[in-house]
Amino acid sequence: MAFGKIGQTLTAIEIFDLVRSDLDQVEREIGLESIASVEAITYIGQYLQSGGGKRLRPILVLLCGKLCSETPGPASAGLTRIAAVMEMIHTATLVHDDVIDMAKTRRGRPSINVVWGNHTSVLAGDWLYMQAFHVALRERNFAILDVLITLTQMMVEGELLQLERIGKIGVTEADYMELIDRKTASLFSACARLGAVCANAGEDAENRLGEYAWNLGIAFQLVDDILDFTSREKILGKPVGNDLREGKVTLPLIYALETAEPEERKLVETVLAEGNYDQVPCAKILHILNRHKSIERAQERALSFTRKAREIIAGFPESPYQKALTAVTDLVTDRDH
Ligand code: IPE
Ligand code: IPE
Ligand code: MG
Ligand code: MG
Repeated sequence: MAFGKIGQTLTAIEIFDLVRSDLDQVEREIGLESIASVEAITYIGQYLQSGGGKRLRPILVLLCGKLCSETPGPASAGLTRIAAVMEMIHTATLVHDDVIDMAKTRRGRPSINVVWGNHTSVLAGDWLYMQAFHVALRERNFAILDVLITLTQMMVEGELLQLERIGKIGVTEADYMELIDRKTASLFSACARLGAVCANAGEDAENRLGEYAWNLGIAFQLVDDILDFTSREKILGKPVGNDLREGKVTLPLIYALETAEPEERKLVETVLAEGNYDQVPCAKILHILNRHKSIERAQERALSFTRKAREIIAGFPESPYQKALTAVTDLVTDRDH
């Protein structure tokens, strides 16, 4: 889990160590479950798995499950399976997201849609979704399916809402929050909830962990949208300035537009209309964001959600897992990719 930032690396390694062997099992599970009778799907599965990724969602499942578990030692087979399920669902959403966004790069490599084309990618994403449900079904637990089905519908609704708002300059902070609740925070929340469900933790712990991870997920997407402006492609593994080019007005820009001069607004409108930075270079947009201190404002907003997440997790008894879940909040806001 290379989140970057030297000062944070030790904490990241410590967190990783707590679930390292469980994560190895998760990887084996994903590998085994991504083999299909059609070659293209198996290749795509291997390409996706070997492409890296932070594995944040399975880490969340494992940490939350182990936080609630009475028995120390390796995670139960059910918990690692559900951790694998959540990474598979995440990957399926990324495959579909890249088709919708016409993305060229993912995890530092050409995205699936670039290598295999849109048609194959849509079907491979569908297959992955269904395979994830197939694995989840092995738990014979309706509560798990309940969470997963609600989640998948929420995420699809999020992507649909996003599509409706593409190219619109008038997106409000409330619109934006509704969107990231659906497309990102709901998955984080489901990971934590299912960790608790696998450990039979009871409704109260499940709700509190769900709330913790929801706040973490909101902060995560806020940071993703900030990094989209401030990072570099080599570090991020996906192009920079991409959201605006794709017609997405995210929080840093929403903040800047609140106080922008008409000429500045015009520049943003030009990029939205043209879908590229040919007329208005990305640096000009960055300048506007800086002038209105909107990156800092969005960062502060992200921190308000991780603060809330820490408050919630502080309500659990102290343990290595509780400490790790606390530390994850800093990794999310301090990360560089
Ligand atoms: C990307 O998630 C999608 C968002 C919610 C922004 P990650 O940044 O966790 O993607 P990987 O799995 O590490 O590649
Ligand atoms: C998050 O949205 C993707 C999903 C929740 C599927 P983005 O479109 O911002 O994700 P990236 O930036 O492509 O990873
Ligand atoms: Mg995208
Ligand atoms: Mg993004």
